[in-house]
Formats: sequence, C-alpha cells, structure tokens
Amino acid sequence: MAAKISKESKTPYVFLGRSGVKVSNITLGTVTFGEHQGRPGQSDEDAAHQIINRYVEWGGNFLDTADMYGLGNSETIIGKWLETQPRDKYIIATKCRCGMDLENNVNSVGLSRRHITESIDKSLQRLHTDFVDLYQAHHVDDGTPVEETLRTLDDLVRAGKIRYIGLSNVTGWRLSLLVETTKHLGLNPIISLQQQYSLVSRESELEPFQVCKAQGLGVLPWSPLKGGFLTGKVKRGLKPTEGRIGWVADNETKAKENAPLWKSFDDKSFDVLDVAEAIAKNHSKSVPQVAIRWLLQKDVVSSVIIGVRTLAQLDDNMGANGWSLTQQEMQQLDDVSAPPLAYPYNMVFSNNTDRVNPAANNFYVKSTSNLKSALNV
Ligand SMILES: NC(=O)c1ccc[n+]([C@@H]2O[C@H](COP(=O)([O-])OP(=O)(O)OC[C@H]3O[C@@H](n4cnc5c(N)ncnc54)[C@H](OP(=O)(O)O)[C@@H]3O)[C@@H](O)[C@H]2O)c1
Repeated sequence: MAAKISKESKTPYVFLGRSGVKVSNITLGTVTFGEHQGRPGQSDEDAAHQIINRYVEWGGNFLDTADMYGLGNSETIIGKWLETQPRDKYIIATKCRCGMDLENNVNSVGLSRRHITESIDKSLQRLHTDFVDLYQAHHVDDGTPVEETLRTLDDLVRAGKIRYIGLSNVTGWRLSLLVETTKHLGLNPIISLQQQYSLVSRESELEPFQVCKAQGLGVLPWSPLKGGFLTGKVKRGLKPTEGRIGWVADNETKAKENAPLWKSFDDKSFDVLDVAEAIAKNHSKSVPQVAIRWLLQKDVVSSVIIGVRTLAQLDDNMGANGWSLTQQEMQQLDDVSAPPLAYPYNMVFSNNTDRVNPAANNFYVKSTSNLKSALNV
C-alpha cells in the first residue's frame, strides 16, 4: 500500500496566470496515457486511473491533455475517470491544432473557426463533460488569421464550452501580437502559456516569458525532466537504454523535432545534471525533485506539468513540494544552465544593467530569477 501523504507535503494551490482560478502547482500531464506515437511503457486505462487517483491524494486538481494524445485516447481515459468524480473539483485543460484525420479530412487541422469548433465538441464528448476549464491552442497556425482564431476562442468562452483560453509553443513576437490583438478586439484574455521549459531548455526565457511577465500570463512548463534526461538515468557519453529516453535514442528518425534527442545532450547538459545531482544529495532529494523545484521557484511559473509512467515516479515528482532550494542553489543552477546570449540579447542586456526600472515595464534581464529581483516581487 502507498504511504500516507502528510498535510504539509500536499501540493499548494496558486492562481493560474491573471485569472481568478486556483490550480495545484503541479499539473498531471497525460501524454503517457494510452498509445502515443508508438512509445513503450504507456499507461493503459487502469494504470492511468491509478495515477490520477494517487495525484488527487497529493492534492492535485489540474489535468493536462490534448485531442492528439493517442488520437483521443488520453481524453477518453480522463473522461471515464471524470464520470465517477465531482466535476467541479477539477481543472481540465486540453488542446487543439494538430492534424487529427488528415487522410480523410483536409480541414481536421489548424486554428480555423471550422476546426476549433469541431475539435471542442469532440473533446467534450471524449472527456464526458459540458465544459473544458482551459482550452489551449497547441501550436501556432500560419494558415489562419489570428483574429479568426481569437474570436472563435472568445465565442467558446461566451458559449460556456470553455472557461479560459491558453496557448502553447509560441514565439515571443507572436505571443505579443496575440495578446495585443485580444486586447484591441476586447476579447476574453489569454491567461497561460504552455511551453517546453526545464534546466536544459531555457530558450523561452529570452522572449516569450518576458511577454508573460509583462502581460500576466502564467507559464505551464512541459517536459520538466526533458523526457527523462533530468533524472540521472542518462550517463555522459553513453547512449541511454532505459525508459522513454532510451526509446527516443533508438528511434531518432521517428522522434519529433522537439523530442528530447539524446544526441542533443552536450557536455553543458551533463554539467547541469552534475550540479543538480550534488544539490539533490545535499538535501537528500532526487534529481527530478530538484529539477521540478527549480521550476516551481521561478516567478513566471504557475504550475509544472509532470509526466509519469509509474506511481513511484509520481510520488517522487510530487515530492518537489514541501522544501526549498536556497537562493545560492537557485543561482548555481541558473549559472550552469544559462542559455548562450546571441546578438541582440548580449547587447541589450549589457547596455541596461544600470537601467532596471520596474515601472518602465521593459523586462530585459538575463533570467527569470533576475527578473524577480529586478521587479522586486
Ligand atoms: N504542449 C506541448 O507541446 C507538450 C509537449 C510535450 C508534453 N506536454 C505535456 O507535458 C507533460 C509532461 O511532459 P513529459 O512527459 O515530456 O515530461 P518529462 O517529465 O520531461 O518526462 C516524463 C518521463 O520521464 C520519466 N520520469 C518521470 N518522472 C520520473 C522520475 N521521478 N524518475 C525517473 N524517471 C521519471 C518517465 O519516462 P520513463 O520512465 O519511460 O523513462 C516519464 O514518462 C505531458 O504529459 C503533456 O501533458 C505538452
């Protein structure tokens, strides 16, 4: 039987971006539910329900899925679980944008009014619910005018099919355009940005997160362990064989662009791992707990989306709450994992070190931890 979870170690609740809704600061990601792009070790319905139930025991109330996870299987598994639950206790996030049936339907993709309105109805059916709490555009769509997408999402809020609007995988300039267009048209706001973010993937700090900070969007980091790299199961110079990351290493041609290809782990990534391992040892914590804790202490982050294959992994990751990294440890991790600053960032930052003025709203600083001190929050 699993150990009893003490009140102190349960997950705290935080506001989701600038909305009035509260979510647990760790979200349960569900890309591991059902078959997904042939990955091994995916959870079947029974295993997935056990994982959700244990997550709820930890105090979790926030589940993230997408129409394309297992081409609907992940949503169906969650829907079967939701049928047995008080719906009002949970915050359900899903997404649309990816191609769902392109062989038979050329319009089953993108962020057009046509595809979004069809997608939400199918997601609601699979999820066995009347409304989705957070509806996210999974990726940008170059084929649809942003006004068409934003007005459709606003209509869904007005129709009661979704409560809040979120985005995922967006560049800085486009995020700014989307937020400003929403304001210009007087539409319901975008409240969150789901983006890949971890100790070995900090690129979004340079642009998208500056927009989030300035506009009050909560960041929901995905792949916080870089698909399993930030666990210690991958050793310097050795091709991984274990778990999902081992599968990715064996299936590089099948893996998507943004998948955590093991070859992309350079010396710097292993240096990050070394520092995380030393800090973990000092606190008697695991490397995943340190990696997730580092994200939880970033002020732009609302809730970290974890992905697990087993109950033991879930318990481990939920243990990222209930303790803290010191300021010095945060700095050590920031320093070893800092992304290289190409032009114009190097010039912008070096010319503004003595020009930090929180009231001016220009947040060009090197990292979100510096951002926190620059803003005095
Ligand atoms: N918006 C997007 O485009 C996007 C993209 C990807 C994911 N997501 C969301 O983000 C969620 C999390 O992403 P992710 O699954 O890639 O997260 P991740 O935390 O980077 O990787 C999860 C994998 O790491 C391993 N793992 C997790 N915890 C562990 C632990 N404590 N000890 C050892 N190994 C551990 C497991 O794989 P093995 O046991 O097989 O090694 C697990 O499947 C997804 O479920 C999804 O909801 C969103």
